[in-house]
Amino acid sequence: MLREELLRLHKQLFAGQEGYDVRTFFAPGRVNLIGEHTDYNGGHVFPCALDIGTYAVVSKRNDQYIHVYSTNFSDSGIIKFDTSTKIVKNETCSWINYLLGVCKIFIDNGYFLPCGLNIVIGGNIPNGAGLSSSASIEMLITTVLNEMFNFNIPPLSMVRWGQMVENNFIGVSCGIMDQFASMMGKKEHALLLNCNTLQHQHANLKLGEYVIVISNTNKRRGLADSKYNERVKECQTALKQLQSIVNIANLADIDSAEFSKYQHVISDPTHKLRALHVVTENERTLKAADLLQRNNLIGFGKLMNESHISLRDNYAVTGYELDTLVAAAWQDTSCIGSRMTGAGFGGCTVSLVKSSETQNFINNVSSYYTQYTGLSANFYIAHPADGAREISQ
Ligand code: GLA
Repeated sequence: MLREELLRLHKQLFAGQEGYDVRTFFAPGRVNLIGEHTDYNGGHVFPCALDIGTYAVVSKRNDQYIHVYSTNFSDSGIIKFDTSTKIVKNETCSWINYLLGVCKIFIDNGYFLPCGLNIVIGGNIPNGAGLSSSASIEMLITTVLNEMFNFNIPPLSMVRWGQMVENNFIGVSCGIMDQFASMMGKKEHALLLNCNTLQHQHANLKLGEYVIVISNTNKRRGLADSKYNERVKECQTALKQLQSIVNIANLADIDSAEFSKYQHVISDPTHKLRALHVVTENERTLKAADLLQRNNLIGFGKLMNESHISLRDNYAVTGYELDTLVAAAWQDTSCIGSRMTGAGFGGCTVSLVKSSETQNFINNVSSYYTQYTGLSANFYIAHPADGAREISQ
């Protein structure tokens, strides 16, 4: 198991140090069931944390240095940085920036790190799959610093800091969903989050005879960050124009009836489509969470399908591979809903599938996908799990 492997490795690399004592931490990835590209528009999202994620084995040092080794990037070897000097972005090694960014935000907020740390990290989230491996590292390191140094920082502050690292240090204008899900997830529950107020509730995932299947297109998400930032800007422009005639702070503050009334002020037809997606997706998310509570899984699945269509036609973040994988799922009678999940431009889909027919579903979707794309997909059954935590015991 990964955790044992990391413990062994940590001992091998760092056990010589005086007073060697290790603690272990975990932060999950997430899958979003519905509510895509709504978070940075003040709308609702409905993700759950997963049982896959990133682990850290940690011990204290006698100086101010962080020494870190990642099994996912073993070519980098042990990377070392000094927390007592100004922390700047590393332009050659991108993964270390998540650690640099988190340490920097603690220090910027007045939390002096009393000593350095030896850290071995390793994760089992497929890289670039859109299951939030980066948010999981951010929430992992945040939890490590908070627990190792007993800072007692409220979880919501750590969530916001994670998003700020991503926005200001990494340079992706993401919303708050991924960090929130990774920190606040709960076993067997999804999380209905209002990204404007941060009010949230855990919704029991009563799936009856169905399971959540995550399918990975294995399509590299090239240019995803710049396309993502472009969508954020398009939404901001649409919002500005709407604000000339209606008093709103976010695109998701209006419903689709109001949108029909006001949409004429959005001059660019593409921006109009982007805003239409946000407004309708926010409504779908609230409706879907409600249907789930009423055990109406068929209705929930239909909204997942509608979500995909809107992400494809109005928001233009799907692409051939995601559309093909979703089309394959839609054709299968065991599937009652399927859509892309996460930022898009590659990555994963999420589907509701009859549990007794999961293997058939996987076989059928897999061969259809390969036939039309020449790629092979991977499949995981999602197990909604708890958020970031220490797992030393
Ligand atoms: C990425 C971002 C999130 C969210 C989704 C799309 O995962 O990190 O904040 O915007 O895309 O819903």
